[in-house]
Amino acid sequence: MNHKNILITGGAGFIGSHVVRLFVNKYPDYHIFNLDKLTYAGNLANLKDIEDRPNYTFVKADIADLDEMRRIIKDNKIDGIIHLAAESHVDRSIKDPFTFARTNVMGTLALLQAAKEYWDTLPEKYEGKLFYHISTDEVYGALELTNPEGVESPFTTTASSSQHHLAFGTEFFLETTKYNPHSPYSASKASSDHFVRAYHDTYGMPTLVTNCSNNYGPYQFPEKLIPLFINNIRHGKPLPVYGKGENVRDWLFVEDHARAIDLIFHKGKVAETYNIGGFNEWKNIDLIKVIIKTVDRLLGNPEGHSEKLITYVTDRLGHDMRYAIDSRKLQRELGWEPSLQFEEGIEKTVRWYLDNQEWMDHITSGAYQQYYDDMYSNR
Ligand code: NAD
Ligand code: DAU
Repeated sequence: MNHKNILITGGAGFIGSHVVRLFVNKYPDYHIFNLDKLTYAGNLANLKDIEDRPNYTFVKADIADLDEMRRIIKDNKIDGIIHLAAESHVDRSIKDPFTFARTNVMGTLALLQAAKEYWDTLPEKYEGKLFYHISTDEVYGALELTNPEGVESPFTTTASSSQHHLAFGTEFFLETTKYNPHSPYSASKASSDHFVRAYHDTYGMPTLVTNCSNNYGPYQFPEKLIPLFINNIRHGKPLPVYGKGENVRDWLFVEDHARAIDLIFHKGKVAETYNIGGFNEWKNIDLIKVIIKTVDRLLGNPEGHSEKLITYVTDRLGHDMRYAIDSRKLQRELGWEPSLQFEEGIEKTVRWYLDNQEWMDHITSGAYQQYYDDMYSNR
């Protein structure tokens, strides 16, 4: 394996921390630079186990700061960028769309421009370089719930669950599906995707985009459905279900997403788009019942004990009804599939949050924001 300097943005967040860990462990010949602003969503405790590795460096910076991006990319001779830094929570985007435009659109543009300027100065120019942008299935808009009870999914994967392998509609997002974002979050991600593709089409810069479905697993910030509900069940707090709980999401274990990113970074075709999904649709209320059942079992509560916490609340504005990804292109062309059955993934996830209560408590108390000062200010 040749030496490469890889910049991973947003590496202190949920998915980014799994990608950083995978690359640091798997590629000792690469140097991994984790660039993160450490917003409320960034938590360096997510990377405690690898922070002292010789092939890892943390850089605190804001992707929207063009001069900083120029300096960091040039000084560290960056060969490849895996761009995950973003504002990622739909509910926050509804309250504060400007922050989403600034980071997701202007930040992505600054990173693209800084990479272009540096790579343009090299004799080999774009040879061996890649700007890999991590996007979301939400850019495609929403699908209809034409089968509210679910029918057998048309997809097969080795990890498909035997108990639950349903599709709640006849349509799926393909790489060719027209963009139709609804929330300020998805509009900002769609815009950033367009800029990434524009840098390829206009300047010939080697870029690539992947659009992934909902991730779950360890280290997810507890404002998102699964960690929020696990934590609320643990504390006997209400579980706020938006609307009727009928919305459908396609769930993928985060380490499977990180594996896909690794594969696509090394084997994906420049200028292509790959959809990444779990082949795993769940109606929110059914998923919530699985979480309740699993948490109650692991806490030693009687079955059904925490169902009383379910509280139907006002729906999210513009709440997209159904996301369902067709990721057969990635399966066909690069041989990727989810490795975990959902039952296994959810069990692992619930156990992780229950076994790592200190991690969760540091977030809820705000202590996690001190981690950078404690660990890095004197280095
Ligand atoms: P996250 O919110 O957990 O982490 C985002 C990280 O980006 C944080 O560490 C934060 O500090 C950092 N960040 C935010 N603004 C920044 C800025 N201006 N400069 C530098 N760093 C900044 O997000 P996540 O769920 O891990 O998502 C990561 C990426 O994957 C995002 O681009 C998101 O759109 C995409 N994605 C997420 C999912 C999902 O289910 N979570 C699914 C598909 C795609
Ligand atoms: O599809 C990929 C996207 O998945 C990513 O691009 C986003 O970054 C990520 O946040 C996620 O978006 P969602 O809006 O689907 O995730 P969230 O966990 O916020 O919500 C999942 C579903 O649960 C959604 O239908 C809204 C509902 N929900 C959520 C919360 C937080 C509730 O019913 N109650 C809640 O309290």
